[in-house]
Amino acid sequence: MSSVEEKLAKSLTAESVALIPYLPYLLQDLWELGSSPKDVVHLISKNIIISEKTKVLDLACGKGAVSINVAKKFGCKVKGIDIIPEFIEDAKKKAQEYNVEALCQFIVGDINQSVEIEKDYDIVIFGAVGEVLGNQKETLNKLAATIKKGGYVMIDDGYAKSEDNEIFITKEQWVEIIEKSGYRMIDELLVDESELSGVLDEQMTCLTKRSNELKERYPNQANLFDQYLKSQLAECDELENDILGVTMLLKKHD
Ligand SMILES: C[S@@+](CC[C@H](N)C(=O)[O-])C[C@H]1O[C@@H](n2cnc3c(N)ncnc32)[C@H](O)[C@@H]1O
Repeated sequence: MSSVEEKLAKSLTAESVALIPYLPYLLQDLWELGSSPKDVVHLISKNIIISEKTKVLDLACGKGAVSINVAKKFGCKVKGIDIIPEFIEDAKKKAQEYNVEALCQFIVGDINQSVEIEKDYDIVIFGAVGEVLGNQKETLNKLAATIKKGGYVMIDDGYAKSEDNEIFITKEQWVEIIEKSGYRMIDELLVDESELSGVLDEQMTCLTKRSNELKERYPNQANLFDQYLKSQLAECDELENDILGVTMLLKKHD
């Protein structure tokens, strides 16, 4: 079993790689899979001067919700890369719908390879991708290779509310790693906790409906889908109680 597949499953809150073929079906009703495009656009507007020459890379772009909103708002070029071919197909269709197909390039790929070949971007977005590129320090080092001098990295992740969280780290720990990795935190936007439970409830309703459909179609796999819904509920609980979602804008020291 490859660790790329295991990390892919985890990035979408699936415990088992056996669920990977079903993810496009389960997630068909959702466009935004992690980051809030509104928050990303807000942080860029507030902090970065964008021109038509600005180049943006969206690593593990999902169905392109962030890429397309950024291209639409700023008129700049965006390249999105994701490992799930169905997500990339959806992203291309959405780009047409939003009239930004000339600005957006979407390709299927493993971002572990992309970070070795993609270079000279003004902004690199890494939205809700977790540990696909390694731990926080390894991720920041790999992302550094893709940005040009004076470029920015936008990361969507979370601050653990207490130090005993096994997956997430606290804001103080993040800041220490960011500074040791040669970046400065320029700005951050915390998730709006008053809106969170409504958004999560809506997502759970869609996932439960699709999961029930799959259970009917593949009764032998019922446990797999039940387990997926359990993991989703556990993640919702974590997001509401143990973690503060955050989008961070970082700038690399020259
Ligand atoms: C939670 S989603 C976030 C998607 C998007 N960044 C967003 O915020 O809407 C995680 C994404 O990581 C992608 N992914 C996981 N492992 C990957 C890899 N090795 N290479 C490319 N994409 C990967 C998944 O296919 C999925 O679309």
